[in-house]
Amino acid sequence: MDKIVSLCKRRGFVYQTSSIYGGLANAYDYGPLGVELLNNIKSLWWKRFVHEREDIVGIDSQIIYHPRVWEASGHTKEFFDPLVEDKKTHKRYRADHLVEAWLKEKGWEDKYKVEDMTFEELKEFIKKHNIKSPEGNEITEPMKFNLLFETYLGSVEGKKRKVYLRGETAQGIFINFKNVLETTRIKLPFGIAQIGKAFRNEITTGQFIFRTFEFEQAEIEYFFDPKKQDWEKLFKGWQEEIWRFVVEDLGINEKKLRWRRHSDAERSHYSKETYDLDFEFPFGFKELWGLAYRTDYDLTQHNKYSGQDLTYWDEETGRRFIPHVIEPSVGPNRIFLMVLINAYREEKERVCLSLKPYLAPYKAAIFPLLANKKELVEKARKIYEQLKRKFHTYWDARGNIGKRYRYQDEIGTPYCITIDFETLEDDTVTVRDRDTMKQERVKVEKLESYLQERLEV
Ligand code: GLY
Repeated sequence: MDKIVSLCKRRGFVYQTSSIYGGLANAYDYGPLGVELLNNIKSLWWKRFVHEREDIVGIDSQIIYHPRVWEASGHTKEFFDPLVEDKKTHKRYRADHLVEAWLKEKGWEDKYKVEDMTFEELKEFIKKHNIKSPEGNEITEPMKFNLLFETYLGSVEGKKRKVYLRGETAQGIFINFKNVLETTRIKLPFGIAQIGKAFRNEITTGQFIFRTFEFEQAEIEYFFDPKKQDWEKLFKGWQEEIWRFVVEDLGINEKKLRWRRHSDAERSHYSKETYDLDFEFPFGFKELWGLAYRTDYDLTQHNKYSGQDLTYWDEETGRRFIPHVIEPSVGPNRIFLMVLINAYREEKERVCLSLKPYLAPYKAAIFPLLANKKELVEKARKIYEQLKRKFHTYWDARGNIGKRYRYQDEIGTPYCITIDFETLEDDTVTVRDRDTMKQERVKVEKLESYLQERLEV
């Protein structure tokens, strides 16, 4: 993990936010390479789950909704972390994390599972075993700490209105269900997708970009008629889709993945069944992608709270009902971290990021063999100017060729193209493959199609 963090900082994938002011805990900015990788991940997700699917459409909703949305969804009541406070230092901890660490220390992880404990059971357990803070001090009883970030609209004191930064992008989809239904020709079963920022005022965060206050979500609400479609079959179908995306599109090693079913106590208030696809991060198997069967919970709640009719009318049967929904939900920032961990290789003479070519921040790098030979530089610039219109291309004329290769390997650029004296004679260039380090000569006129073929998603 340290090596990934260090690479991210050194090469400009990820920076600690506000670092000139000493930083802000659990908040990161994405640098020139990071933003490219993150955008490529999001575009691939959008391509696979929106553009290539006739039955899914996208939206982009606000971050701040009408505050009633969060009352209807149950988040103002049910969306909390169990919080305890060290009575001496007043440091705050997540009660379940303290219990988890305590169980690990005792070697009791198989005897008790913290994710199976309800809030009340957690409270009892802490009391019974007299669990202390990491500093060894007494702690308070667990309290429910709501995760929604509060903020205020309006500038006039006394007239400010309390609103929330969205705790999940999903609600933006539910509140637009009727709009989408009325403005498109889409019919059940269908999905609405959204990528955007969500915010959670977590008590303890950490592990680099894995858990942050502000993060991105890529979510789909897949609506269906439970009388016509078996939810378990649909659910399984989504599990297969997700697995395929992670293994084939993102190139993740299957051995590092597992599905984990949520216990009754762990499941969110809106869900009847939840599975997480976990990836084995250096700090253990952790959630990458959640899949939940939210039933008709959310639409029913919004139907009730808004007073608007959110039912669906089935032309075929003449039935009117509230559709059920299955929700695949993933964090692009987590995919980002997973993809880097999965791609990182240390070899004898180099560090190499073996990213899938279409995910790489730069697709190709162009080098004139010698920077002081005008003819080489001119020819190389010409090729660069052409290629950069098609692919994100890097220009490098500094240092020796070996150093340029090392730099590109470390940032995952799949193809390095060198313009040398032979180029001036026969209009061919050397293309070097990042993973095999093999080189081949390619005609300049064929270069674009050569890369296109290899960068195909
Ligand atoms: N919408 C699911 C989640 O935010 O966890």
